[in-house]
Amino acid sequence: MYLAAQPGSLQLTQQGQLKHFLTTEGLPKTLLTRILDHTESFLGVENKKVKNAPLLRGKTVMTLFFEDSTRTRTTFELAAQHLSANVMNLNVKHSATSKGESLLDMLHNLEAMSVDMFIVRHPESGAAHFVAQQVKAGVSVINAGDGRHAHPTQALLDMFTIRKTKGAFEPLTIAIVGDIQHSRVARSQIHALNTLGTGEVRVIGPKTLIPHALSQFNVKLYHNLSRGLKDVDVIILLRLQKERMSSDLLPSKHEFYQTYGLTAEKLKLAKPDAIVMHPGPINRGVEIASDVADSDQSVILQQVRYGLATRMAILSMTINTQDKQLFSEEARTS
Ligand code: CP
Repeated sequence: MYLAAQPGSLQLTQQGQLKHFLTTEGLPKTLLTRILDHTESFLGVENKKVKNAPLLRGKTVMTLFFEDSTRTRTTFELAAQHLSANVMNLNVKHSATSKGESLLDMLHNLEAMSVDMFIVRHPESGAAHFVAQQVKAGVSVINAGDGRHAHPTQALLDMFTIRKTKGAFEPLTIAIVGDIQHSRVARSQIHALNTLGTGEVRVIGPKTLIPHALSQFNVKLYHNLSRGLKDVDVIILLRLQKERMSSDLLPSKHEFYQTYGLTAEKLKLAKPDAIVMHPGPINRGVEIASDVADSDQSVILQQVRYGLATRMAILSMTINTQDKQLFSEEARTS
């Protein structure tokens, strides 16, 4: 339980604005909607001749990735560059952590270089919250994925993709398929989908890949893919997250594909205009057939494109809030 979403808490200012962005759990609908609306204003930035807006001019943003990434790190770096920030990636694998330096000591050293924002990915659940608790006032922390707990910016770019493609959330039936148990993306998506008023959220997967405490998530559970896909508007696929499995939970990838892989045939069970989503990286022939991944119904690359605008929105809404908060604290104490 991470109490980070109440006003005045770790994540939000007294005014209910983002100080850090750590989880979608408990964030109000108004704030999620504001992020989606703000994302609209950054759409298509990659096609503009002059890409940079001055919103983060003079700020230093550092990415700290203790786990591999293709999409999240690069879109965050591009997003910060497009907002005119100074952007640095600490190459964690080649950092002094290999000589025994702790995360906390590393943080204090980086803070001494006047970093304004850390974007953190870590294999341990709760790592981004820990960092947010340790940084000094005025420094923001964005959770770029922590263990199996949360990946809030992925969830927001997914919400943006759904809203852009389908409109309102209320009439939609959305199915999340695959390894829910180890998925930080699924947890963050489910919180956001419920807050935004989605008609029905289904999760589909084998018993070994579904969390025990599913009742707290307000979703309908299916173990049978064909039944779960019936008449859905959106299908979100997840890969098998082997790196977070403590033992073999499935007989084989081949069997998983036979039972839960999305093929063109199974896709026909959903509504004819259903979209297929995946946070990536995709494993063709495991959770998704290659022709489905490349089909007109797939919006997988749209998600990546929208990720850039979504992260620009989140960066600008978070870092500038910190300035306003400090300004009002100074005004109160002077
Ligand atoms: N979706 C996602 O988090 O992808 P990366 O691991 O490539 O960042």
